[in-house]
Amino acid sequence: MVIEPSTRSELVSYPIRDIVQEAKALEKQGTKMTYLNIGDPAPFGFRPPQHILDAAAQALKGNYSGYAPSEGDPELREAVAEFERVAPEDVFVTAGLSEGIDLLFQAMVDPGRNILLPIPTYPLYLTKERISYGTVDFYDCDSGFEPDLDSLRKSINKYTKALLVINPNNPTGAVYSRKTLQGIVDIAGEAKLPIISDDVYDQMVFEGGMTHMRDLSKDVPIVCGNSLSKNYLYPGARVGYLAFHGEGWGSMKEAIQRLCNQRLSVNWEMQRAYIAAIKGPHGHIEKFNGELKKRRDLMMKRIGAIPGLSTAAPKGAFYAFIKVEGPWKSDLEFVRGLLKCGVVTVPGSGFAPTLKGKYFRMVFLPTLAQLDDAFDKIEKYMKVGR
Ligand SMILES: Cc1ncc(COP(=O)(O)O)c(C=O)c1O
Repeated sequence: MVIEPSTRSELVSYPIRDIVQEAKALEKQGTKMTYLNIGDPAPFGFRPPQHILDAAAQALKGNYSGYAPSEGDPELREAVAEFERVAPEDVFVTAGLSEGIDLLFQAMVDPGRNILLPIPTYPLYLTKERISYGTVDFYDCDSGFEPDLDSLRKSINKYTKALLVINPNNPTGAVYSRKTLQGIVDIAGEAKLPIISDDVYDQMVFEGGMTHMRDLSKDVPIVCGNSLSKNYLYPGARVGYLAFHGEGWGSMKEAIQRLCNQRLSVNWEMQRAYIAAIKGPHGHIEKFNGELKKRRDLMMKRIGAIPGLSTAAPKGAFYAFIKVEGPWKSDLEFVRGLLKCGVVTVPGSGFAPTLKGKYFRMVFLPTLAQLDDAFDKIEKYMKVGR
């Protein structure tokens, strides 16, 4: 008997992890691998701040073994509300922002409709759009990785339900200018569309500072998503939130509440840890950003010296989206070849299915020595490949 999976499940892919199976197979045959595919600080020695871990440990000893309220721990909702400058009722706690994204698609996207995505984009949005049977539409961000406002304006159509902005960006590390963000807000206002602002890297900015979409949006409804994962170096905690700003969200919030109710609740102990994160000292951020900048500088130096590789310097998050010129027929062929040299990256097409040219995404979280070693391998591979 063959149990066939649903057609919906066939639409799911997650290229950041899909490549790992191939890497593991090569590892078994003896190739030593450097994993530059996944945006997780933990394997590279970065730990959540101690006061957050202490709060999680404390919560395990407390009375948090039951189901939490579906919309989230009341104290966490209050802490987030203060941080986001909304009311606690505007905040919904989710299992990482990943679940927040899932709930938004379920609540907003009927078949044939869409959330307008930047290209390149974080792959989860692509999958969610596909499994909502949405029409996948993009606006360009490939020139210097800044959103192209003309493309944004032209890509809005009668099926568009909302605009997505990821700032700082995964996969490019771009941090958008105030002018660009204002332009996006103006376009959303003209088109009467809400904005989804993925702020999951909003404290990981190591050059030039950043403007928050929520500080510009005024009359445009916006929903901000964030989590413990990146800003507090605690992706395993799996806690995040959605915060609704502005007018017009009434029935959408009711829909989100229903969706929260049907999945009962989010891990309560970890919600307590998030309270400590928001309210506690934030000294880790400057330290972490200092480390990221050192790594970014080394990476850019190495990329600049390798013919066939180019990118715009990331200013935030910990990713680079690198353009490759050379004989490889596809980005997948390039990434598979690099895999055989012991470096795991992600093919650009996973983030940018319609973008012309070959790209790969790497994380620059490893130590300087590990990064140097990975770039030695990349350099050698590029020479042979070319
Ligand atoms: C842009 C972006 N949004 C959302 C997420 C989901 O994060 P989490 O579910 O860990 O909060 C990620 C994770 O890498 C991301 O890069």
